[in-house]
Amino acid sequence: MNFKKILMVIFMILGLGLAAGCGGSAASPTPAKSTAQQQASLSGKKVLIAYFSWSGNTKAAAEKIQGLTGGDIYRIEAADPYPGEYDATTDRAKQEQKDNARPAIAGKADLSKYDVIMVGYPIWWYQEPMIIDTFLESGDFSGKTIVPFCTSGGSSIDKSIEHMKTVVKGASFAQGFRYDGNDKEMNQWLNSLGLLKK
Ligand SMILES: Cc1cc2nc3c(=O)[nH]c(=O)nc-3n(C[C@H](O)[C@H](O)[C@H](O)COP(=O)(O)O)c2cc1C
Repeated sequence: MNFKKILMVIFMILGLGLAAGCGGSAASPTPAKSTAQQQASLSGKKVLIAYFSWSGNTKAAAEKIQGLTGGDIYRIEAADPYPGEYDATTDRAKQEQKDNARPAIAGKADLSKYDVIMVGYPIWWYQEPMIIDTFLESGDFSGKTIVPFCTSGGSSIDKSIEHMKTVVKGASFAQGFRYDGNDKEMNQWLNSLGLLKK
């Protein structure tokens, strides 16, 4: 088995742990910065939870966030769907990242009525899937707040946030969160941002 296969098997095992709801031991979110300011700025704002998910973990996280925030939800789907098969998907994901590709999205979200766009995704090859960059370039984010969240087999969210900041124009970024199955941490993160529904 080559290195890539070994790495992917590890990701798969950790990812399955998350899907089964027992992924509580991996990395925790870093504490929110300027909590009071973020609470003041995001409380009462109109929220969209936009997410991409290949195998369902990020979908489950997004649906939990919807339940806790009362925001609207939108699933980002590829116009050319990713294969169901793991190796074919990892190969395509790797190539898209290498090419700095912008895979087309099926349909289009109307962002105009939202102040806060929560953007959820699985970590693919240590960063956000390139279709997230398509999403970030496909609408007008100026003046909006992006709240990133992810699921992963263990990789941190930090690199993806740094990369997304280079892609999207005119938006500010609030504290991101990697969901590892710990609902209490998710609750604390949303509360720190002022996003828990009243
Ligand atoms: C193409 C691909 C690449 C991945 N790369 C990473 C990675 O770099 N680091 C990591 O921790 N997990 C990685 N994973 C595991 C996923 O991030 C993890 O299983 C995630 O929870 C899947 O979310 P989803 O079910 O919403 O697709 C990768 C999975 C796939 C399919």
